[in-house]
Amino acid sequence: MSEMIPQLSNYDEASLEAAFATLSDEVRQQAAELKTTEAQENFRLNWLGRKQGRLKLVSDAWLKSAPAEARKPLGMRFNQLKQQIEQALEAPAAAASSATVQGIDITLPGTVRQPGIAHPLISAMHEVVRVFHQLGFSTNLGPQVESDFYNFEALNFPPNHPARDTQDTLQIAGQQVRPSRDRLLMRTHTSPVQIRTMIAQEPPIRIVIPGKVHRNDAADATHSPIFHQIEGLCVGPDITFSDLKGTLDHAMKSLFGSAVKTRFFPSFFPFTEPSADVQISCIFCGGSGCRKCKHSGWIELLGCGMVDPAVFAAVTAERRRVNPDDDAYDPAKIAGFAFGMGVERIAMMLHGVSDIGHFYSGDMRFLEQFA
Ligand code: PHE
Repeated sequence: MSEMIPQLSNYDEASLEAAFATLSDEVRQQAAELKTTEAQENFRLNWLGRKQGRLKLVSDAWLKSAPAEARKPLGMRFNQLKQQIEQALEAPAAAASSATVQGIDITLPGTVRQPGIAHPLISAMHEVVRVFHQLGFSTNLGPQVESDFYNFEALNFPPNHPARDTQDTLQIAGQQVRPSRDRLLMRTHTSPVQIRTMIAQEPPIRIVIPGKVHRNDAADATHSPIFHQIEGLCVGPDITFSDLKGTLDHAMKSLFGSAVKTRFFPSFFPFTEPSADVQISCIFCGGSGCRKCKHSGWIELLGCGMVDPAVFAAVTAERRRVNPDDDAYDPAKIAGFAFGMGVERIAMMLHGVSDIGHFYSGDMRFLEQFA
C-alpha cells in the first residue's frame, strides 16, 4: 500500500537528493519482485495511479509547494523517478518475450561441432571394397576367433607343418583338450572366410572379405599385432590366371591411378598354386627409384594365386558331410583365384604415412588431417 509522502522541510540540493534516493530505492526493490502480471499491475497502480498513485502524491506534496528556484531540480528528479518506474514495467515484458534465450548469451560464438569422419583405415577399406564391388564382387565377413581347421588345415597348412611358422599365431587359452582341428585361435588372415563361403555356397563366387586379423608380431613402423586385410575369392567354371592378373591390375589402377603398372612374382602360399606376389610401380617416384621403393622402382603390395586343388578337396569333404554326392567344387569343373592385401599398407601408401602406429594412436592431430 502507498505510504505517506513526508513533507519536504527543505528544498536544497542535499534534501532533494536524499528524498528522491529513498523513493528510487523503493522502486528498485519492488521492481525486482514483479514476477506476475498481478504484481506488475499493483506496482503500476501504486506508483502511477491517477488519484492515489505515489507520483501524484509526490507531485501534490512537493512540486506544488516548492519555491520557484527549486522547481527545476525537483522536476528533473521527478521525471527521472517516473522513467525508472516506466522502465521497471517494461523490463518484465522484454524478459518474457525473449524467454527462450534466457541465460544464453546469443551474441557469443556458438560451439563448433566437429563433423565425424571415417577412420583412415576404414575409409581405405571402403575404397578397396568399392573397387571390387564395381567388378561384381560382394562382401562377406567371418569371425576373428577362428578354429584351427578354417585358419590352417582347410587352407592346406597341415598340423605341425613348417608353413605355419609364416603366421605366428595367438592361441586362445585352454584349447589343448580339444581335437587339433577345433582349437580356437585369433585368425591370422582373412583366408578362412574363403573356406566358410565355399562350404556355404556353390560357385560361381565373387567375394571380398575385409576384416581384422592377429599375429604374434612385435610392433614396429610397419607391423602391428592387430591389423586388417582384404581377401578376395573368385571361383567359377573358366577362371584363369589371366582373370587374376586383369582383375588386380584394374584394381591397382583404380586405387593408385591409371599410370600404375603391376607385375607378378612367383611366391608361395599353401592354399594357392601357382602363387604370386604383386608389385606395383612406385607411386612416389613413378618407377625411377626413390627411398620409398628402396630404389627399385617397385613396391610389393599383395599376395595372390590360383586356388589350390587341396583347398577344393577340403571344402568338398566338408560339404559331403551334409550331401555325400556333392561335387560343386570338383577341380575338373571349376577353378578360382584368391588374393589378400593389408589395409594398413594401402592406407600408408595412399596417404604417405610412414609409421603404422599413427593409425592406432587416437591422436587427433593425425586423424584431423583426414577430415
Ligand atoms: N592370406 C595370405 C596372408 O595373409 C594372403 C593371401 C591371400 C595370399 C589369398 C594368397 C591368396 O599372407
